[in-house]
Amino acid sequence: MKTNTLLAAARAARLRAYAPYSRFLVGAALLTGEGAVITGANTENSSYGMTVCAERVAIWTAVHAGWRNFKSITVVADSFPPPSPCGACRQVLWELAGNIEVIMSNLQEDTTIMPLMEMLPKPFGSAAWDENPISEKMVDNEEMWRIPVSFHPVGFVVNAYRDPGSIPKNYKEHISQIIIDPEMEDGLYRLDEEEKISVISYLHQARGYTLKEKRSGRGNEVFGIFACRAPLRPNAMAQSTVELLEVNRNVLTVKGLDLINGTPVLDIKTVYR
Ligand code: THU
Repeated sequence: MKTNTLLAAARAARLRAYAPYSRFLVGAALLTGEGAVITGANTENSSYGMTVCAERVAIWTAVHAGWRNFKSITVVADSFPPPSPCGACRQVLWELAGNIEVIMSNLQEDTTIMPLMEMLPKPFGSAAWDENPISEKMVDNEEMWRIPVSFHPVGFVVNAYRDPGSIPKNYKEHISQIIIDPEMEDGLYRLDEEEKISVISYLHQARGYTLKEKRSGRGNEVFGIFACRAPLRPNAMAQSTVELLEVNRNVLTVKGLDLINGTPVLDIKTVYR
């Protein structure tokens, strides 16, 4: 993965910092061996010592989500020189991620890269990480399916609909674009052979749900949430079948999309013919 992508992820994560006391916002983006990016931001507390740095929020989030194999951590703050992880974070990263690369940068993208071991030459719990990797310390079990799953968008929607109420009744006639992450452009190879595609998305403005809903298309009769397409559902996922008009590098032009501008796209699939 390109360093620029990791810097962008860390910069975006930084905007989710909760730092009303120091006003020093830090974002971190961990890269896993599988190519996933998990982010964190510093989260402060009025009892100042309870504050947790961006790096630990990211590594704990990742380990809890099941990731066990890490390549690098990118840390971004508005500082010169760029932020260097504190001692506590170095110790925690060493134990859970091993000797990863530490990419330190600021908003001007002045960047320094160093292996963690150079920054923490004598960690506590000194048994070599290679002999005691985290993957062998944690055993999966059959209750794992209860743990929430997190997805990372592969793209987003661009069109004129600003909110769910503004999707016109004749949306089937309207054109939208789907911008795919440029790094995933190869995944679109031969998609242009399709006339219709299936777009899986996350309805990012949906909040809450009920298990039974009135179905507007069926005279407001009540149906279970899994027996209709209502947007307020336990997982606010949507599936839209659209006409594919054009594939231009990482930009898809489609007709008939019922999603608003900015909707994160999780997947694109073909439709059975
Ligand atoms: N902070 C980080 O998030 N990462 C570091 O490596 C050092 C410091 C945060 C903690 C606190 O919210 C703010 O920066 C000022 O110390």
